[in-house]
Amino acid sequence: MQTQNINTLCVHGARDENNRTGAVTVPVYQSATFAHPSVGESTGYDYSRLQNPTRESLEKTVAALEGGTDALAFSTGMSALSVLMELVSSGEHVIASCDLYGGSVRLLDNVVKRRGISVQYLQTGDISAVEQAMKDNTKAVFVESPTNPMMQITDLAAISSLCKKRGILMFVDNTFMTPIFQQPLSLGADVVLHSGTKYLGGHNDTLAGFLVTANAELSEKLRFFYKTIGACLAPWDSFLIQRGIKTLALRMERITDNAKKVAAWLETQPKIQSVLYPGKSGMVTFTTDNADTARQILGGVKTILFAESLGGVESLITYPIMQTHADVPVDVREQLGITDRLLRLSVGIEAVDDIIADLENALL
Ligand SMILES: Cc1ncc(COP(=O)(O)O)c(C=O)c1O
Repeated sequence: MQTQNINTLCVHGARDENNRTGAVTVPVYQSATFAHPSVGESTGYDYSRLQNPTRESLEKTVAALEGGTDALAFSTGMSALSVLMELVSSGEHVIASCDLYGGSVRLLDNVVKRRGISVQYLQTGDISAVEQAMKDNTKAVFVESPTNPMMQITDLAAISSLCKKRGILMFVDNTFMTPIFQQPLSLGADVVLHSGTKYLGGHNDTLAGFLVTANAELSEKLRFFYKTIGACLAPWDSFLIQRGIKTLALRMERITDNAKKVAAWLETQPKIQSVLYPGKSGMVTFTTDNADTARQILGGVKTILFAESLGGVESLITYPIMQTHADVPVDVREQLGITDRLLRLSVGIEAVDDIIADLENALL
């Protein structure tokens, strides 16, 4: 691929290596297994848990978008995180951002810790706190920036230089920003994680997850766990995510434009007490004057759908306390500000006036 501009990569990131027909999209190779030309020979494809041409072309696209050399496509973001945590062994220590996506907290607290790994949550935006928490057995720092839902920002390059000095791995969940706005590998991260279900897929119709790295040794280890655990993305779902990515740059432009206007409008509303918007992408978190107003909005919106998830063309509104963060311990939620007055809006690509009118009607 000659062109390196990310807008073009979204459209042409990978081609079908086996294409003899001129098809402009990569076909769905709906095959579980592949015939060998002769004993000891392979076409490069043996069994779809290991390699599949449709998934491979998607993986090449995502690797190119994140500036990595390898990307692994998973059935969900959570399965990507499970495999990522296989890089950490019993007796080792992980530092993680304190308001990670609730499902990530559930995995770390109930699955990873059971393997004898200690996990310490802190504000990774506080660089000296991260430095102080680093111990001899610290294996990795896992950062979400901005965090979900409190939009806390971490200086990824600063964390990376701390990690590099000590030989600690740095993992970044880049679901919210996407490679259009943030490329953590270029800031020193070792592995980037995505819930591909969100902006990459972009249509609220397919679950997917990704791990991306530019480190050959890590890629080999991750691929070993990937084929062994078997949480790979199916061919048809790979096709759908690849199709979604073709419009990623365009969607992120429109979504950011819409989200900026929605956030600015929310700021002017007497019943809205605070608005958190990082200036890019489509996630807007806000607090209402009381819990009744929050519930009134959830019950009153019509264009915006009251549903979990984010990052699609449809605007969705979520009640983190009851949905995405229901499994986060109550004291932690309170400390973070995840209260019954907090709502998280994923702004879509609809006409912005319709999104604002919907919120306005719901607030009446
Ligand atoms: C930031 C973030 N990371 C990871 C995940 C998990 O991804 P999935 O739902 O695709 O398993 C989510 C899901 O909401 C998320 O928001």
